[in-house]
Amino acid sequence: MSAAVDFSTDLCGVALRNPILLASGTCGYGTELEGFINLNELGGIVCKSLTLEPRSGNPPPRITEVPAGMINAISLENVGVEAFIKEKLPVLPKGLPVFASAFETEIDRYAEVCARLDGAPGVAAIELNASCPHVKSGGIEFGQDPQVLAALVRACRAATDAKLLVKLSPNVTSIAEMARVCEGEGADGLSLINAVQAMAVNVETRRPALPNVLGGLSGPAIRPIALRMVYQVRQAVDLPICGIGGIATGEDTVAFMLCGASAVQVGTMTYTNPEAGLVIRDQLAAYCARHGVAAVRELIGALEK
Ligand SMILES: Cc1cc2nc3c(=O)[nH]c(=O)nc-3n(C[C@H](O)[C@H](O)[C@H](O)COP(=O)(O)O)c2cc1C
Repeated sequence: MSAAVDFSTDLCGVALRNPILLASGTCGYGTELEGFINLNELGGIVCKSLTLEPRSGNPPPRITEVPAGMINAISLENVGVEAFIKEKLPVLPKGLPVFASAFETEIDRYAEVCARLDGAPGVAAIELNASCPHVKSGGIEFGQDPQVLAALVRACRAATDAKLLVKLSPNVTSIAEMARVCEGEGADGLSLINAVQAMAVNVETRRPALPNVLGGLSGPAIRPIALRMVYQVRQAVDLPICGIGGIATGEDTVAFMLCGASAVQVGTMTYTNPEAGLVIRDQLAAYCARHGVAAVRELIGALEK
């Protein structure tokens, strides 16, 4: 990485040494990647979404490959918030910004996850995964209904003083409306996007490729959708944005930053190369050197039209 470029950025008050984080669900609790990369060279990590109790998720198969991406229906397997605090957090490298992701099936349970994470040593901020089906709303995702999303953010805001990023679902008509709802309820930042609802069919068996039938599409296939949504959200609110969706190169990171992201998360690409986040960081450095960018922050929102 070029020493001349100032790579530091800030995501809702959390100082990052560079803008590349790993996305929730694609880097476990961080320790899974030790031995492949030095986690401290990343901007930070977003750990797997946590529920109050441990969850085993769907039985396999729960991932299928599609052109330029994959569809997953993991259904949020995780160790539970208490085991995360007691066993996972303490062994992560000191100085690594760790974003804990909260998820549940009811609002009061979401708020309880946030309350337990509040003040946990080593948690830099909480990312609310609002893309899960809400049992009391007949299975509609929290992030698909503005009123449900408002109630969720309000309850979690009241439950914690930690910095709160809301991770938006792309499975909506107006992403800008959802962003405004989060801003109105006191969110500190937004992460977008989560996976795009999708399905695949095995025509030999005439069955859905995944027993769950529906899943979330991720990878480069969704990048233009994610970029469009970051751009629209930037026009709609003043909150800091963390861009996510198919980011595979340093140039992809530049595109998201130009459209208004302060930082980005790399997800599916880590499955093709566990070092992807650091390769992308180095490509970003090379771009900055090539274009005379002295501080990476100069790129944020600098799209020319
Ligand atoms: C296998 C898998 C598991 C995921 N689990 C979570 C999760 O637990 N919480 C969450 O907020 N997002 C989860 N995601 C979504 C990613 O964090 C990310 O938003 C999405 O994959 C788009 O980014 P990408 O195209 O770079 O993968 C998961 C994605 C994948 C592929």
